[in-house]
Amino acid sequence: MFLLASSLAHANGKATYEGMCSACHGMEGKGDGVAAASLEPKPPNFQDAAWWEGKTDEHLTKVITQGGASVGLSPLMAPVGAALTDQELAELLDHVKAWGPQPDPEPETEPETETETETETE
Ligand code: HEC
Repeated sequence: MFLLASSLAHANGKATYEGMCSACHGMEGKGDGVAAASLEPKPPNFQDAAWWEGKTDEHLTKVITQGGASVGLSPLMAPVGAALTDQELAELLDHVKAWGPQPDPEPETEPETETETETETE
């Protein structure tokens, strides 16, 4: 039940992202959406681990609901998420954060050996 609920939430976040964000940010979050060519500055690459450094949920939520200008970024990043419910926002954040570095696994689990190769697929 929990697993079902969380995978549904992920599917919702993906749908929200693809509907509201992918035109600029790209389907895979690389900042290469169809509209990105005409944007300056360009949207960031959400798959770049270095970009995620210091990014908090609070910051991301503010950018999405209040726009880039609210945190000193470009107003081209409009407050597109202003009308989303808390639930929709949480699901959207989960979807976007899945491209970023994942939290360390539980200490008792074996370290993954092949995590590097998984992100290479286009
Ligand atoms: C009209 C194009 C456009 C749309 C639509 C858009 N963005 Fe953006 N977004 C941008 C641009 C351009 C930037 C870069 C702003 C900058 O660096 O000054 C950006 C930046 C961001 C950032 C990075 C903020 C930071 O601290 O660097 C996040 C997170 C983000 N967008 C999330 C989203 C989400 C989630 C959606 C959909 C709900 C979305 N954006 C929709 C253009 C867009």
